[in-house]
Amino acid sequence: MEQQRLKELVGQTAVDQLVRSGMKVGLGTGSTAMPAVRRIGELLQKGVLKDIKAVSTSFQTTVACEELGIPLYTLNSREIGGELDLTIDGADEVDPDNNLIKGGGGALLLEKIVAYASKNYAIVVDESKLVEHLGLAFPVPVEVIPEARETVRRALEKLGARVTLRQAVRKAGPVVTDKGNLLLDILFSQPVDARLLEAEINQIPGVVENGFFTRKRPQVFIARSTGIVEVRP
Ligand code: A5P
Repeated sequence: MEQQRLKELVGQTAVDQLVRSGMKVGLGTGSTAMPAVRRIGELLQKGVLKDIKAVSTSFQTTVACEELGIPLYTLNSREIGGELDLTIDGADEVDPDNNLIKGGGGALLLEKIVAYASKNYAIVVDESKLVEHLGLAFPVPVEVIPEARETVRRALEKLGARVTLRQAVRKAGPVVTDKGNLLLDILFSQPVDARLLEAEINQIPGVVENGFFTRKRPQVFIARSTGIVEVRP
């Protein structure tokens, strides 16, 4: 089955299995999260789902929710109260223990806040995202405040990373995140302890967040190329 179809299949499957009326749901970002968002919109429109309160993780998702009529709230709103029933999101890499790299779409900061505020966390991927070790092939994004770009770069290099400032496409200069920050993409040449690094990178002054997600174990929905969706607890 072609990759786009797999993304649609896995996003829809997760929504059908997990989302129930009355839930407070965090909605992720990216090309695999989008079919899940669209499925929620469709089920709301058909009246199969009712009273969904959604929290978005990016401009991309906010625009989609607005177009689909999915009611949006902030995490701070009285209705959400800083806690969600469920978050559904994509990932760039998933290791055998369900640790993740996220942030290929630049939305890691809100994605992590929302994920870590959710009782249940579901990740939707096609099988191309499965890896033995994180950070060797797909870079881990590190969101930094612009003033700290070079100091953080040096600190990351000391941790053994190769560091690249993410560049924008169809705009000159670096990517500016939804929160006005820059992204340093880092790659390792040997396997690393992602759990340790998630904490360690955030100790560097000027780092806002990094794309290792190891502290909230997700249920991972994996679309196999055969068209079967496997769920890894
Ligand atoms: C967005 O910042 C990311 O964390 C995405 O969830 C991740 O990059 C996966 O995106 P795709 O589903 O488009 O590959």
